[in-house]
Amino acid sequence: MASVKLTKVKKVYDNNVVAVHDFDLDIKDKEFVVFVGPSGCGKSTTLRMIAGLEEISDGTVEIDGEVVNDLQPKDRGIAMVFQNYALYPHMTVYDNIAFSLRLQKVPEDVIYEKVTNAAEILGITEYLMRKPRALSGGQRQRVAIGRAMVRNSKVFLMDEPLSNLDAKLRNQMRAEIILLRQKLNTTFIYVTHDQTEAMTLADRIVIMKDGFIMQVGTPEECFDMPQNLFVAEFIGAPKMNIIRTELGKDGSGYYVKPFGVKIPVDGSKGEALKAKGAATGEILLGVRPEHIQMAHAGDPGAIPVTLEVNEMMGSELHLHVFTEDGTRVIVRIPTIDLEPGEREKLVAGYKMYITFQGKVMHFFNAETEKNLLTD
Ligand SMILES: Nc1ncnc2c1ncn2[C@@H]1O[C@H](COP(=O)(O)OP(=O)(O)OP(=O)(O)O)[C@@H](O)[C@H]1O
Ligand SMILES: [Mg+2]
Repeated sequence: MASVKLTKVKKVYDNNVVAVHDFDLDIKDKEFVVFVGPSGCGKSTTLRMIAGLEEISDGTVEIDGEVVNDLQPKDRGIAMVFQNYALYPHMTVYDNIAFSLRLQKVPEDVIYEKVTNAAEILGITEYLMRKPRALSGGQRQRVAIGRAMVRNSKVFLMDEPLSNLDAKLRNQMRAEIILLRQKLNTTFIYVTHDQTEAMTLADRIVIMKDGFIMQVGTPEECFDMPQNLFVAEFIGAPKMNIIRTELGKDGSGYYVKPFGVKIPVDGSKGEALKAKGAATGEILLGVRPEHIQMAHAGDPGAIPVTLEVNEMMGSELHLHVFTEDGTRVIVRIPTIDLEPGEREKLVAGYKMYITFQGKVMHFFNAETEKNLLTD
């Protein structure tokens, strides 16, 4: 069992920087929670307060119901893996992993059992007698994780453990962390600024900005129903298009009028706006690039645009287009959806039409930037 509960946790540094404001979060036993947000938003500070490496200015941190504010890091039952996984260069991989156990005077046969078991899980058995300098970045990363694993920790804290690795290795290690999590079956709190990492690893994501929590939810919840504009633009790549426009209402229900083209808000989104009694007027309309389609002149809801850049991504194209009033919009089109001969035409200056449906729209208050459907 290892639940972690933060109640009104606050961090004020000596220079009066408030790095974390009234942070409330209940992490369940065996949950994988990811803190994500831009640089400086307070992710590491929060993690370090849980670990006991940073004093808590106000509020409480509980592990398994026990307040740990005044406990030493070693007494909190946590293990931490850092971004710069500092291994001892003069020690072998085996000795690096065994180090903390030797400090605790654990018998050598027990150490052997634990180190070889961890090495097995991490696939580094053949490197146990090597020094860290003779390992690749990904292998070193695994040693750092191994060091944390042997300590029978109730909670695993990881601060950007993959950020030193190149893109390919990062993808591979990401998959390994998912497997590791299944094997260890313990509580994980993982920090990253990479939304893809957050989406793929997390049971729940905590999205932070300037020391405040912007949303806590499953990856699906954060993606499908972002509570505010910040989350909407942070989750998803390329990021959501935001269009300042009018939300109107007539006899047949709500509509929006992006770039002067009237598009009805039909289906569930229209129903939801009605149920909320959403006020008409200026809004920020969000539409993800993958939810925009190409259209033909004369189609209802067709918005005329001009192509500026066509990025070929392999199985899809990222089209950067601009509308008649000069607004830039990004459109993701699966190459398989293109009509024969169409692909060759998609060069800068090409005049085309785009459209989208009511069900993919997100609506934000133009002043508060909050989602009209969740506020
Ligand atoms: N020791 C310190 N003294 C004063 N201010 C600090 C200290 N450590 C961090 N800060 C400030 O606190 C805020 C949060 O920092 P933190 O390291 O938690 O951010 P982060 O979200 O982990 O960012 P990154 O993604 O860059 O690692 C920042 O404004 C930072 O400048
Ligand atoms: Mg950090």
